[in-house]
Amino acid sequence: MNALQASFAARLIRWHQRHGRHDLPWQNTTDPYRVWLSEIMLQQTQVATVIPYYLRFLERFPRLAALAAAPVEEVMALWSGLGYYARARNLHACAQAVMSRHGGKFPHDPDVIAELPGIGRSTANSIATFCFGAHAPILDGNVKRVLCRACGIEGQPTSSAVDKRLWALAAELMPARQGAIHNQAQMDLGAMVCTRTKPRCEACPLNDICVAHASGRTAELPTPKLRREIPLRHATLLVLQDGARVLLEARPPNGIWGGLLSLPELPQGADAETWAEQRFGCRVIAVSPAPTLVHGFSHFRLHIAPLLLRVKPLHSAMEPGRQWLDLAATEGAALPAPIRTILADVHTSGKRPLLSRKR
Ligand code: ADE
Repeated sequence: MNALQASFAARLIRWHQRHGRHDLPWQNTTDPYRVWLSEIMLQQTQVATVIPYYLRFLERFPRLAALAAAPVEEVMALWSGLGYYARARNLHACAQAVMSRHGGKFPHDPDVIAELPGIGRSTANSIATFCFGAHAPILDGNVKRVLCRACGIEGQPTSSAVDKRLWALAAELMPARQGAIHNQAQMDLGAMVCTRTKPRCEACPLNDICVAHASGRTAELPTPKLRREIPLRHATLLVLQDGARVLLEARPPNGIWGGLLSLPELPQGADAETWAEQRFGCRVIAVSPAPTLVHGFSHFRLHIAPLLLRVKPLHSAMEPGRQWLDLAATEGAALPAPIRTILADVHTSGKRPLLSRKR
């Protein structure tokens, strides 16, 4: 055992006592339902963003059985705005799997937890240490950064060789006792001190044993991802407005915004008026562009040009997956954040007197 291994966990645990986070809404409980819900929400999402979603979720679904019994559309609506919607679909599937495979009780063995939908090895180990006192290391993005810097590990953390090395290291550094505090401390250190840019090395309990700090390489470790140019895609979205209501369509289950409601997307090259009249059986009265916006996804950016079409439906029958929604009632709907922005804009500009509408 080298100097780092000997004192790594002890330093982290001492630091966490004084400087770590202790009063987040999902802490001070060993209820696996609550811990699991928070861990899924915290993937790729900051604590401050997660808190209100977590509290709303628990209020609506105080127990796993309630979540499992709910329609998936309601789960999507509550998740709306948090992004990475596969998490919400998997969350629902996982609740149902715990009910059907495990009689409504989360399994204790991390390997069995990791077989559930949407739960990877690190999340399974977090749940097992926080709730069942398991001796299981974690390796999320924050912990990878801490380990790469502290131990001077080079190479892309996403490569399988480096990933394997990091898991082995995480297991070696895991203390025999206080595994839950150790795991929480690593996550907190990564989020609060050993940040991706501008790490606060002066406040770090590992600063005198950290390889990256000693060699002035905190900016080079972990080895940054090869930055491919992020492509920009374009979409024209139609806001079909009939009085105070707009037409929404359910997105296909896979792909962006899968399972959410959205505005119809105009196929490339199609004429908006003709397409809308044929597809939705309505008469178009007026067409006007609305302000454009750009939304970032993990692998591309989407330039959205909304086109506002005032329409009169020619019949009242609706195909499955389509619905008219009152502009004043978008709050409870399963809408992606940019669609919410577009509709809020249409709603408020519709309320302003015509003369004051400047664009
Ligand atoms: N990110 C993932 N899990 C976390 C946790 N338990 N605390 C803080 N950040 C986290």
